[in-house]
Amino acid sequence: MKYYPLFFKLENKRCLIVGGGAIALRRAKNLLAAGAIIDVLASTVCQPLKELLADTEGCVSEADFAVDLLNECYALIIAATDQPRVNQAVADYAQQHTIPLNRVDEPSQCDFIFPSVIDRSPLTIAVSNSGSSPVLSKILKRQIEHFVPKAYGELSSLVGAHREQVKQRLPVIQQRSEFWQQVLQGRIAEAFLSGRRQQASQLLNQALANPQQFIQQGEVYLIGAGPGDAELLTLKAFRLLQSAEVVLHDRLVSAEVMALVNKQAELVYVGKRRDKHSVPQGSINQLLIDHAKRGKRVVRLKGGDPFIFGRGGEEIETLVEEGIAFQVIPGITAASGCSSYAGIPLTHRDYAQSVQFITGQLQDGSINLNWPELIAPAKTLVFYMGLKGLPLICQSLISHGMSADMPCAIVEKGTTPSQRVMVSTLAQLAQEMEQQHIASPSLFIVGEVVSLSHKLNWFNT
Ligand SMILES: C[S@@+](CC[C@H](N)C(=O)[O-])C[C@H]1O[C@@H](n2cnc3c(N)ncnc32)[C@H](O)[C@@H]1O
Repeated sequence: MKYYPLFFKLENKRCLIVGGGAIALRRAKNLLAAGAIIDVLASTVCQPLKELLADTEGCVSEADFAVDLLNECYALIIAATDQPRVNQAVADYAQQHTIPLNRVDEPSQCDFIFPSVIDRSPLTIAVSNSGSSPVLSKILKRQIEHFVPKAYGELSSLVGAHREQVKQRLPVIQQRSEFWQQVLQGRIAEAFLSGRRQQASQLLNQALANPQQFIQQGEVYLIGAGPGDAELLTLKAFRLLQSAEVVLHDRLVSAEVMALVNKQAELVYVGKRRDKHSVPQGSINQLLIDHAKRGKRVVRLKGGDPFIFGRGGEEIETLVEEGIAFQVIPGITAASGCSSYAGIPLTHRDYAQSVQFITGQLQDGSINLNWPELIAPAKTLVFYMGLKGLPLICQSLISHGMSADMPCAIVEKGTTPSQRVMVSTLAQLAQEMEQQHIASPSLFIVGEVVSLSHKLNWFNT
């Protein structure tokens, strides 16, 4: 073993990076994730690196490397300039002071090397091949992250059979690499991995017929992120998040889910709040089109399920009109997630034979719903976006004949560690909601099944 793998505790330890470009930025991100304090010294420091370190205790100095500028005891030093002379001076300094050194792209000159890291803190998986090929380590890391789908072996045989052909059609290495990335992380691999082998072969043949055009084609994945708990994400959603190049995400997508997105992806926040649309729907549609037309793998990540009060349909209609390929990956909708985590089965042989999902959003201060239909017996009602209109909903249900004692519940921030479940009756709920300062996002459930919550609530115990 050329390098023995150790896990280095860097929290609050000062590290020095000499160099201010893209590699320095990448290393700074890695070290920052481990809690290190990072000083940067370089004649020019790129803007993203300055911004990254702006609110940290680290010090960014734009100056030529000189030993007298270094006045700290460093835990680690990284030489990341493109000037061998400077890198050598940094190495000399590190050696004199017996500080471990990493010299970018020169593994033989390094005291330590950076592995590819899968960060699921506190679980950390590090992959290395002793610096012989960082690209190979990254590929292996991704495979582990994807849980190594079963059909991977067969997929590699399929693409391997066409390798020579692609080499002839695309003589430039960079283009070949883009072609295979697109095949292996795009809809061809997706069709293959989800068992649609014939479709995968057809798509591959089309790609081979016009490889130049193929590498310009982006695609969009409309993904449901679920209600909050990241473990409720589907495996497919997880895999596609890893291969995303651009991610357009909403306010309701939890930080835990966002932490699973490919670290290199461009993140675009397009979240909306009630009455306060931060990005208009038309602009979101246009962003999806623009990124896909730049040949990117674009993820549109939405809270819950994209097809349930999520405007997912509208977004993909635009994609159809523009001829952009897309897939829809369902998510666990708030009704399923919140009811499960609150111990409220939405149907039950003794209490409810049907369930209805309803938007409780006010329009011009009123709610127009088919009230006689809603008060039908043996039915569970789930209101999304109903917090503002909740007093009016309760009143209307009672005035149309539903019992004032009907059990009902509000589930606030369902499936997250901050989940609160408030169980009451139709007559009391609005007042109790005020007293408890219930906030958004909250789901409102009405029906006999709610009475089971006391017995079945397993999450908030
Ligand atoms: C615009 S709708 C989006 C629904 C989403 N597409 C789904 O399938 O869950 C937003 C509403 O979903 C509900 N919601 C979403 N996540 C929730 C959560 N974690 N807890 C409670 N309610 C939630 C709230 O009623 C919120 O106002």
